[in-house]
Amino acid sequence: MFTFYLVYRVSLKVIKTIKEITNWEFLQPVILVPTMGALHDGHRKLIREGNAIKGNKGTLVVSIYLNPIQFNDPKDLDKYPRTLDTDYETCEEEGVDLIFAPSDVEMYPNPYSIGVSENNISQELCGSKRPGHFDGVCTVVTKLFNLIKPKIAIFGKKDYQQLSIIRQLIIDLNYPIEIIAIETQRDKNGLAMSSRNEQLNEIEKEKASVIYKALEAMVNSGESQSKHLIKLGKSIIEKESQIIKIDYIEVVDRSNLKKLKVIDRPALAAIAVFIGKTRLIDNIEIDFE
Ligand code: PAJ
Repeated sequence: MFTFYLVYRVSLKVIKTIKEITNWEFLQPVILVPTMGALHDGHRKLIREGNAIKGNKGTLVVSIYLNPIQFNDPKDLDKYPRTLDTDYETCEEEGVDLIFAPSDVEMYPNPYSIGVSENNISQELCGSKRPGHFDGVCTVVTKLFNLIKPKIAIFGKKDYQQLSIIRQLIIDLNYPIEIIAIETQRDKNGLAMSSRNEQLNEIEKEKASVIYKALEAMVNSGESQSKHLIKLGKSIIEKESQIIKIDYIEVVDRSNLKKLKVIDRPALAAIAVFIGKTRLIDNIEIDFE
């Protein structure tokens, strides 16, 4: 007797409205990868992890929403890459089950007046440089959690401060969601992949590899005084000062992102730079032995 196995994949579902996502009957568990689109290999890494966790049951959801309220600079929002068609293809290739890609009107009907803020970790690093940014992130992620109700949500360590804030959001707002953190995916030259890299020309991309070189030198120096590490990182990046301007270089406590004088606990070295008008961030964990 022959047994026929029918192997098929139900095609990728795209949902654009709050009404449909709210009424959707997800196969459980739901695994969510929130993104702003312009998907690259860093995003793929998160999606692949989601797929590995899902195995053969559940729903892998990728949200694609360029959230205007987390952009403190309207010009930054204007030039952010929008590649929805190729994003759909990427999701299809990676075996995503459902894309949630709402419009601005769906997400922020006029008027809206409630937002979510974090008032501690978000004051550090990028928070002090991008006022309102993390309020925008917290608000949209809260909305996504409410709409999609994931059991697991996946975030990248590339945006370490965002990850720390989301972990706090889960605790403070009592979401029964497990947060999975994924290592940063890099180009061959060490540059952390980012949708914003698309705004750089080839020379700038090559020069930008100095950010990770600085971070690696900092972590490998064996120095325990943060000021020495910062000086070392600065000296490496400043070799490219014609193209790259430092926004900050800091060494912080990994648990709360407060500045650290001596590395006597798990730490994080974090860098933000400008290349022209494009702002890039990266970080590296410094383990304490
Ligand atoms: P976006 O920048 O699109 O990033 C989506 C997710 O991909 C984030 O968790 C981010 O940390 C992760 N990511 C980006 N580059 C990565 C890389 N090179 N390696 C590994 N992971 C990487 O972060 C956002 O969108 C938004 O703020 C969002 C959370 C979606 C809220 O709007």
